[in-house]
Amino acid sequence: MGIQNNLEHLKQLKEQAYLGGGQERIAAQHERGKLTARERIESLLDQGTFEELDTLAVSKNDDEANDDNSFYGDAVVTGWGRIDNRTIAVFAQDFTVFGGSLGEVVGEKIGKIMDIAMKIGVPVIGLNDSGGARIQEGVSSLAGYGTIFNRNVQASGVIPQLSMILGPCAGGAVYSPALTDFIFMVENTSQMFLTGPDVIASVTGETTTFEELGGAQSHASKSGVAHFAIENEEAAFEEVRRLLSFLPSNNMDESPVVDTGDNTTRRMENVLNILPDEPQNPYDIRDVIDELVDNGDFMEIHEFFAQNIVVGFGRIGGRSIGIVANQPLYLAGVLDIDSSRKAARFVRFCDAFNIPIITLVDVPGFLPGVSQEYGGIISHGAKLVFAYAEATVPKITVIVRKAFGGAYDAMGSKHLGADINFAWAGAAVAVMAGTQAVNIINRRELQDAEDEENERTKLISEYQERLEHPFIAAAKGYIDDVIDPRDTRIKISRGLEMLATKSESRPAKKHGIIPL
Ligand code: HXC
Repeated sequence: MGIQNNLEHLKQLKEQAYLGGGQERIAAQHERGKLTARERIESLLDQGTFEELDTLAVSKNDDEANDDNSFYGDAVVTGWGRIDNRTIAVFAQDFTVFGGSLGEVVGEKIGKIMDIAMKIGVPVIGLNDSGGARIQEGVSSLAGYGTIFNRNVQASGVIPQLSMILGPCAGGAVYSPALTDFIFMVENTSQMFLTGPDVIASVTGETTTFEELGGAQSHASKSGVAHFAIENEEAAFEEVRRLLSFLPSNNMDESPVVDTGDNTTRRMENVLNILPDEPQNPYDIRDVIDELVDNGDFMEIHEFFAQNIVVGFGRIGGRSIGIVANQPLYLAGVLDIDSSRKAARFVRFCDAFNIPIITLVDVPGFLPGVSQEYGGIISHGAKLVFAYAEATVPKITVIVRKAFGGAYDAMGSKHLGADINFAWAGAAVAVMAGTQAVNIINRRELQDAEDEENERTKLISEYQERLEHPFIAAAKGYIDDVIDPRDTRIKISRGLEMLATKSESRPAKKHGIIPL
């Protein structure tokens, strides 16, 4: 054949590969407002950095590898490239080929790029747009999924794994993303479900639509499966790039240090205006976070799910931090099943990837209720305790307004191993608020009082004087310092500097038994 002939042949094969499932299907993809797999990769990565692998792989079901009807590359595009000049591994399912479904070759291609990502210690980003297991390939498709799941689990906590859902993802196509660290969905174009509306209608009789069942908003706000619901693909690529900027490439690495230009000696001058005068009134904890982090640049994770707790990434002095903060704006910032799960997961991610955890506490307690108890709040709340106690990264906690009951313990308390615990000067640390406490400890006096309301006010005020402040906790060393709220950024920054060389070990074990 000769090199010239082969080069010509290679050119034709690659041209065919780049057409995926053909012009018609590409046009259909565009009509749905979706980019093709290669267009997506181009948009996501630094320009011109993509190196593709296995462009010429073909489904082993094809009788001849050079059959004219072969879909070269099969239903996935894989390779590596750079984001913000850092290497990443990427795969993008190609919906124009068998609906992006996964058979043997697709499984092997994804497996290969994941293995490379593990060997070199870089994040892997999966762009998912797939009808699930390739039905024609039978058990080989199931085997393909199984080996990817296995790799997802082995890679968990070693390299960051990000999943973008960019089309209808069904069946096995949703389980691999579920095993990764972050899921990005796009409004109105992406859905995730195990079984679609038709199957649901025949099995349970429920009627639903693709979007209602598995759309971005459903998973971002109801199930919590998705961490981000973003308006379009381009914006989603930007958010992936932004998220990566906070993360290290692997668990032995540190996050990139960014020159943010925001001084670590900056006082939080506006913070006193954020807290309302009445201690039970709501405010937005994100206003405090915006004052705290460099340039107010805070990337919230799970924004629409369990909104009574806020988690996300920011920087202080250019270094990444993870923030966990009760949100008094929703359910008074109470801890419930979903907020405990959300925060526990985030704490574990930060711990796995060497990102210090800053906790801002303003919590009235755990949410009482039959549905919470039946839903297992005991186990779910225990996850949060577990996550904080097992984390060995630097942990700094600030009680900004109140920390009551078990939630005081759970929210990064000294007793769970936090390194530095601050309380704002006006904070309250107690088993419960005086308004509730007097009903229990002063029931008899209240019953016997001539004027019950007067007596109640007096008793509450006495309780507040005696127990509802930070000074007892400070006297016992549970709080390391009671601070002026305006000094919070300076104090945390100095704490992080001191803790930069922190090293803490745990007893040797295979793994703990987190109460799942
Ligand atoms: C092979 C598939 C396919 C599949 C879609 N296609 N899904 N081919 N295996 N699983 C093909 C179609 O035949 C079609 O081919 C092209 O992809 C586009 O599909 P359409 O149906 O025309 O597209 P659309 O209307 O947008 O619907 C997309 C869809 C739907 C919602 C994903 O195709 C669908 O419901 N697919 C089946 C989903 C499913 O049940 N998968 C198996 C799950 S079981 P042409 O040639 O016309 O372009 C599973 C088990 C794994 O995944 C378990 C692991 C634990």
